[in-house]
Amino acid sequence: MMQMLSNCIPLLTIVASVLFIYTLRGLSTAATSSNGNLCGMIGMAMAIACPFLHYMLLPSQNDASWQVLGSWAVMGVGGIIGLCIARRIDMAALPQLVAAFHSLVGLAAVFIACAVFAAPDAFGIVESAYNSIPMSNATEMSIGAAIGAITFTGSVVAFGKLQGLISGKPLRYRGQHIVNLSIAIMTAIAIIMFIIDQASWIFCAVILLSLIIGYLLIMPIGGADMPVIVSMLNSYSGWAAAGIGFTLENNLLIIVGALVGTSGAILSNIMCKGMNRSLMNVVLGGLGGGGDQVAALDSSVRGNVKVCNPEDAAFIISNAGSVIVVPGYGMAVAQAQHAIKELADILKGEGTTVKYAIHPVAGRMPGHMNVLLAESNIPYDDVFELDDINHEFGATDVVIVVGANDITNPSAKTDPTSPIYGMPVLDVEKAKTVLFVKRSLGSGYAGVDNPLFYRENTMMILGDARKVVEGILKAIKE
Ligand code: TAP
Repeated sequence: MMQMLSNCIPLLTIVASVLFIYTLRGLSTAATSSNGNLCGMIGMAMAIACPFLHYMLLPSQNDASWQVLGSWAVMGVGGIIGLCIARRIDMAALPQLVAAFHSLVGLAAVFIACAVFAAPDAFGIVESAYNSIPMSNATEMSIGAAIGAITFTGSVVAFGKLQGLISGKPLRYRGQHIVNLSIAIMTAIAIIMFIIDQASWIFCAVILLSLIIGYLLIMPIGGADMPVIVSMLNSYSGWAAAGIGFTLENNLLIIVGALVGTSGAILSNIMCKGMNRSLMNVVLGGLGGGGDQVAALDSSVRGNVKVCNPEDAAFIISNAGSVIVVPGYGMAVAQAQHAIKELADILKGEGTTVKYAIHPVAGRMPGHMNVLLAESNIPYDDVFELDDINHEFGATDVVIVVGANDITNPSAKTDPTSPIYGMPVLDVEKAKTVLFVKRSLGSGYAGVDNPLFYRENTMMILGDARKVVEGILKAIKE
């Protein structure tokens, strides 16, 4: 009976793997993202259940009961901590939370590799003839440990920068790339030596050098590139897990690691395109530049700024036949999405066309705006990606830019000296009237002045996005 039940474990592994694939598929569109999330949760519960079922159904002499109980206790505590963090975390702090979690994945890979190295027989991977770890396992283990160590220090630095604990300025010095390359070559040599010799000092050297690489790779990266880095570290953490999965001959870890590794790399590539960065430069560490210089507008571009109040804006909006809302980070901060939905419903009731334009890197994390708009039940059919809506601005009466800045900045198209030059932006300036809702004329994430504020067809409505939109709503209702 026990044997029969234990045969279900590989089946559970396959089902969990398929659920993870469905998770990624579900998360690719806003409409299916909830189902995707659910698949991920069920898959993870199954993945966690597999080793415990194994312990209970097929106990081996190596598994002392205190070890099994200890694992339950540690997982319980971890689960409770995760739940508390997820409940309390502010949306704006999600990128640094993700970076912090990646650091734990990297650290776990290093710890597992250390445990395997210290007691390979406990993991059943000893070549009895030589009493050493087989070469193939040593290769996977050392590569997994190296990627894990790079992920750990890289993620800690990314967390520090995003949280403001470390300066967001890129750390650059002469000969930086030669130093990075030399340490990378030394690490590769150390890995080869370890595979041949398996000396403990070489194993320590692999980990130490990799920890240094993680630090050196992320320190030169400026604030504007940080989202790509977080996604790239996500990918690294997947590869580290896959490497360790090979060592432990754990199929689920290999599959999940490979899924995380590839999806993270694909997401990084999409984000690089959205921010006009080269993925290779990001991977190699800080070659892409960006985010370190602040482009100030020359005085000829600065002009008079037209400031209006919510009542004036209500008048302009209520006379428009077509409106496009461009949400940005400020909308998330102000939690203005519900007021925007209410405003859109009223306008639609009056026969106005209302659409939403989403930039791939609007806000502070991938899909940030989609999540917020979905939260306020804005129909998916009204939400358009940059490529699908950019040609419509020229034929639009009013664009309301709510707490967005960089993603509308035309200097990305015209000023080669701008740090955001080449980043695709929403062509909001082509609309008849652009209403900017933000608190000041200050810059956004990339620290770049926005010439749009001074254009003829732009009107600024200064204030907290939620209060301003509620003011417009009130005026329209009256
Ligand atoms: P930003 O360029 O950062 O502009 C947001 C604007 O919101 C700011 O200029 C700010 O101006 C305004 N704001 C802040 N709080 C507000 C409030 N309570 N009410 C009204 N306005 C408020 O944002 P964006 O246009 O969404 O562009 C995103 C930027 O973040 C890009 O540079 C992107 O590269 C970067 N980034 C993206 C991600 C991802 S993956 N999405 C992750 C990290 C970084 P005031 O201070 O004048 O109000």
